[in-house]
Amino acid sequence: MEKQEIRTFGRRHGKKLSPRKTALINELLPVLMPEPGYSGRRILEIGFGAGEHVRSLATANPNAEIIGAEPFVNGVAALLSAITNPETNAIMSPYQNIRIFPDDVRILLRDPAYRFDEIWVLHPDPWPKAKHEKRRLLQAEFISLLGQHLRDGGRIIIGTDHWGYYDWIIDQVKNTSMRMISGEIDVIHTRYQNKNMAATDTPKYLVLGH
Ligand SMILES: C[S@@+](CC[C@H](N)C(=O)[O-])C[C@H]1O[C@@H](n2cnc3c(N)ncnc32)[C@H](O)[C@@H]1O
Repeated sequence: MEKQEIRTFGRRHGKKLSPRKTALINELLPVLMPEPGYSGRRILEIGFGAGEHVRSLATANPNAEIIGAEPFVNGVAALLSAITNPETNAIMSPYQNIRIFPDDVRILLRDPAYRFDEIWVLHPDPWPKAKHEKRRLLQAEFISLLGQHLRDGGRIIIGTDHWGYYDWIIDQVKNTSMRMISGEIDVIHTRYQNKNMAATDTPKYLVLGH
């Protein structure tokens, strides 16, 4: 990265990948790299984890292109595995509209040609310790950057079960030109949320627009 960006994510590699997942990373992932210009409806999900919400976006929006960004290799491999036929490794039909950017989304967002109708950030790492606050992804500067990539009438949807982070994000939004808007959202419980259900609060969602 040109500017020394603060790392907003933890480990990039976890447990060793199976031969099938390794093959998907080597052979299929390069084909699924997104291209900047696109005139149709486009949705971005940032930090998709294992990708269950990317899949639900893909089936709920068959006419849109869904771009998922995630630097964690095991997460990328989990999504690739879930969208492909285990015998042929071919992408299954409801998931043809998925593209994957396997890195820090801030690299993708350097290109102004990427414009979105919706941008989702579900359960961003809360970095709860005060000394790690600067690692939080949803700083005012980043929210403004997302705003620059939003098409007219577009919206940003943020969900977190960390209420301290939620309040903190609202304070950050106040230092941007984005505003909180109302609107229905259709969201599923992600793996992160299910895993943490017992220990955390119910999620709160924030919808932002111009
Ligand atoms: C707590 S997990 C939540 C995953 C998923 N959204 C869910 O709800 O299950 C946060 C995810 O954001 C990813 N992440 C953090 N910083 C990121 C960045 N700058 N660009 C893309 N993804 C990022 C992490 O790798 C991690 O997978």
